[in-house]
Amino acid sequence: MEKTGIIIAIDGPAGSGKSSVARLVAQRLGLVNLNTGAAYRAVALLALREGVDLEDGKALGRLAGRVRLEPGGVLVDGRRVPEGELRAPEVSAAASRVSAHPEVRRVLLPVQREAAERARRAGGAVVEGRDIGTVVLPDADLKVFLSASPEERARRRAAQTGREGEVERIRRAILERDRQDSERAVSPLRPAPDAAVIDTTEMGLEEVVERVVRLARAAEGRG
Ligand code: DC
Repeated sequence: MEKTGIIIAIDGPAGSGKSSVARLVAQRLGLVNLNTGAAYRAVALLALREGVDLEDGKALGRLAGRVRLEPGGVLVDGRRVPEGELRAPEVSAAASRVSAHPEVRRVLLPVQREAAERARRAGGAVVEGRDIGTVVLPDADLKVFLSASPEERARRRAAQTGREGEVERIRRAILERDRQDSERAVSPLRPAPDAAVIDTTEMGLEEVVERVVRLARAAEGRG
């Protein structure tokens, strides 16, 4: 297949700054931004709406078949889901449980790959998630893994959502999601062996974006 655009995979835990970094890097380099977490969130939202048991992998896999990923968002049954609905706290918690089911991951794998392939043909993409560099797009031109201390991630999440008084509660929720995401049997959260690991605890957003843009330019030069 002819290679037309660069693919940048950005993985990392909740609150590592992934979404902001991916969005800004995509803007800076004129690439499409694909947020794969939105697909898992859409399955969770469907399950909550339709009363599907979050332990029923088979039924959740069927729901996943109704989800499509596109630049900047996600479609369910062909309709765009509002970002606010995907970001609700109960959807975040359900998405983490939903994403542990192999049936769901199996259905969403080609969904993510097809979206990335379309984006690549359109000039390239920044694809953001948990297992992009390890499983979804192991041939990505650049793999970045962002991390930050749980305390710092909780502070960022609290500031983002105007819940500054709840840092400790958010920190515990983040640790719980980290545990679920990194201990699950399928596609656990971990850096690809060839990923550039960036600890963003002491870095500003702009600094991280600059670093990834530099890595991307170097990767493009190699391509
Ligand atoms: O990045 P996010 O918080 O929107 O992701 C929502 C959930 O989906 C999170 O619990 C991890 C899961 N996820 C995943 O398992 N694999 C991905 N590629 C993206 C997200």
